[in-house]
Formats: sequence, C-alpha cells, structure tokens
Amino acid sequence: MQLVYPPLIRQEQIQQKISELAEKICQDIQTENLYAIVVLKGAVFFATDLLKKLPPVSSIDFVRAESYEGCSSRGDVKVYPESIPEVGGKRILLIEDILDTGLTTQKIFDSLQIQNPEAIYLCVLLEKRKPREGITISSDYVGFYIEDNFVVGYGMDFNGKFRNLPDIYILSLNKGSY
Ligand code: IMP
Ligand code: MG
Repeated sequence: MQLVYPPLIRQEQIQQKISELAEKICQDIQTENLYAIVVLKGAVFFATDLLKKLPPVSSIDFVRAESYEGCSSRGDVKVYPESIPEVGGKRILLIEDILDTGLTTQKIFDSLQIQNPEAIYLCVLLEKRKPREGITISSDYVGFYIEDNFVVGYGMDFNGKFRNLPDIYILSLNKGSY
C-alpha cells in the first residue's frame, strides 16, 4: 500500500470547493430549518468544514454505517439502527464523504425516507465515476467527481489509517511501505 504523490486533491482545493458548495446550498435550501445528518466516520472532516460555512442549522446528528474491508465494499452494508435519528417531516441535508457503489448511502437514505421527511438533500464530497446498478439515489451536491480509484485522507481511511491527512491521495495497491 502506498500513497500516490502528489495528492489527488489538496486541502486548499477542498476548502475552495466547500465554500462553493455552501454557497449553492444556501441559494437552494432554507438552512434555518435544515437538519444535518453526517455519516460516520468518513464524512466528519468534510461535514465540520461545510457546516461552519452554513448559517445555523436546526440540528446535527450522526449515522453510523460500515461496509468496507480494506479497499473493497463488502456489499453487505451495516447501518446501526440505533443511530438513525427521527426525521419525520424534517428537511434533511445528508452529508457523505464519498459515493462509490452507492449501497451505503442508499441504505441510509431508505431508512430516513421511510419516515416521510419533507425532503432529503444528498451532499457528497467525492463521487466516483462509475455505473451504479440498483441504486436509485443521486447526489444533489458533489464536490469532486473522481475516477474509480481508492482514495484516503480528509476523513477517508484504509482499515482505519490515513483519515487525518489534510489532503486526499490515491492509495496504490502495489506492495511497499507507506
Ligand atoms: P459505497 O457504499 O460503496 O458507496 O461506499 C460508501 C462508503 O465506503 C463511503 O462512505 C466510504 O466510507 C467508503 N469508501 C468508498 N470508497 C472509498 C475510498 O475510495 N476510500 C475510502 N473509503 C471509501
Ligand atoms: Mg462513509
């Protein structure tokens, strides 16, 4: 496993993009009644930077989901049911780090949608360019579209590692040290 240099997306680009996303969100959505839901753990870095650039939202909650082992989705997504907040009638901004197969976000989206919220807006920092079979959700706000590589940093990890890097890197699967 090796980080590929230079970074795919640098922290300055990330912050610039987040400012643009925040501006768009403010134009489109009434933020004072917005309920922000952040998908743990990967989206925490993105969400805190994004939320700091929005006017006060009505509340912020966290949903816990797991699907990845190493570099590949296990396919069987686990959403912790006790972490799903009550959202009936609310307007939601769902914040995710990355849309890959879309399975995780779909499952979280479905468990919110079933409660009949007023609306769910999906905001992702990264979206991989790839076909998504059986996925009905689509992002309302996307920071960057990227190729189908495994990336780490700025909240995204490989088996728990690299989350705290300020920039985003492609992780090469070649043997070697990082
Ligand atoms: P999906 O269910 O395949 O869309 O993946 C959803 C989750 O898997 C994301 O929220 C991430 O936490 C993780 N994930 C997907 N792709 C990557 C990646 O390239 N690097 C790190 N984590 C990823
Ligand atoms: Mg995630």
